[in-house]
Amino acid sequence: MEFYNREREIRDLLNMIKQEPNLITFIYGPINSGKSSLMLEVINRLPKGYVAFYVDLRRRYIIDDKSFVRVLFRIRYEKDLREILEEIVSTSDKVLKFFNIPIPANILKEFLKDKPIDDVFEFLEDFFLKISKKKRIILILDELQVIKDIKINEFLIYKLFNFLLSLTKVLHICHVFAITSDSTFIERIYNEAMLQGRSRYYLVDDFDRETVEKILRSKGFSNEEIDIVWHYFGGKPIYLVEAIQVKRIGKDIKELCEEFYEIRYGQLEEIIYKEKRLNERRFEEIIELLKEFRDKNFLRYKEINPTIQFLIEKNILFADPKKKFLKPQSHLELIAIRNLLKEVEK
Ligand SMILES: Nc1ncnc2c1ncn2[C@@H]1O[C@H](COP(=O)(O)OP(=O)(O)OP(=O)(O)O)[C@@H](O)[C@H]1O
Ligand SMILES: [Mg+2]
Repeated sequence: MEFYNREREIRDLLNMIKQEPNLITFIYGPINSGKSSLMLEVINRLPKGYVAFYVDLRRRYIIDDKSFVRVLFRIRYEKDLREILEEIVSTSDKVLKFFNIPIPANILKEFLKDKPIDDVFEFLEDFFLKISKKKRIILILDELQVIKDIKINEFLIYKLFNFLLSLTKVLHICHVFAITSDSTFIERIYNEAMLQGRSRYYLVDDFDRETVEKILRSKGFSNEEIDIVWHYFGGKPIYLVEAIQVKRIGKDIKELCEEFYEIRYGQLEEIIYKEKRLNERRFEEIIELLKEFRDKNFLRYKEINPTIQFLIEKNILFADPKKKFLKPQSHLELIAIRNLLKEVEK
């Protein structure tokens, strides 16, 4: 897969990891804005002396502490713990990248049998501590929101945060990046007292117009085609990739855009009219809020009220807790909102 642009973001993130680990970095942004792809690219560009662990929490279905533990690790059948650590610290000619944390089968079995989650975090702290004597460590936790509601006596997420804080602000041994596109969740984290002054927030947004033009022009798009793609898709990487593929096989770009738009409009219509049937008052509030987007692309907000929360949960709006603005998840939603308002007001 070809990777486009993101030079500024890659520079920013590589600069962060040059410093001593101190804060937890939360990577957030609209759906499909390219957060995971960007972090994977950052790993590819790490200088020597680093080792990266990338954990995708959505890889398995997490329902409790055991399934959470399972998702963190990857079993290495042929090696014991000493050999795994030895391999990590002694490899000096290349950057090591791991999907999940390598662990011998017998240790994982113990964890899954009767060990409390605190012991697992203690093991990991020790594991990273040993590596940190020789290497700089990056830990990436993707799709953090999947554990937002999981409780084992107390919320798992708080135990995880405590562990991540020990790796960063206490021991300074590991750079931690946590990724999520759930904006109600990131809002909750942003206002979480235990993370105040101990975390930073980095927005990975869709591409801007200039970047879209540059990418599409290099793929032979005409000015007219670029305008169409920007109108419907804005800078959403996943749609741009689709448009480039469609162009390559000589199909009509406008047809593709309209097809995607029809689907999204239909979904939005379904969501909003269902609300009209179930909760007329909520429906009125939604329409009032959406009217703001008739002539604006984004809005400032003061608090996430239930109406905003509803539209975020339905993936219609995205909220940035740092800059306190709301905007449609993509251009498709923006156009759909504007056309739906015309329909409602008929
Ligand atoms: N910089 C890029 N260059 C090329 N393609 C990209 C880039 N960023 C994203 N993409 C494409 O867009 C798709 C979605 O990107 P990605 O999964 O990284 O987004 P995300 O923000 O992590 O999504 P989610 O909100 O679901 O977590 C990728 O599969 C890839 O095809
Ligand atoms: Mg992702």
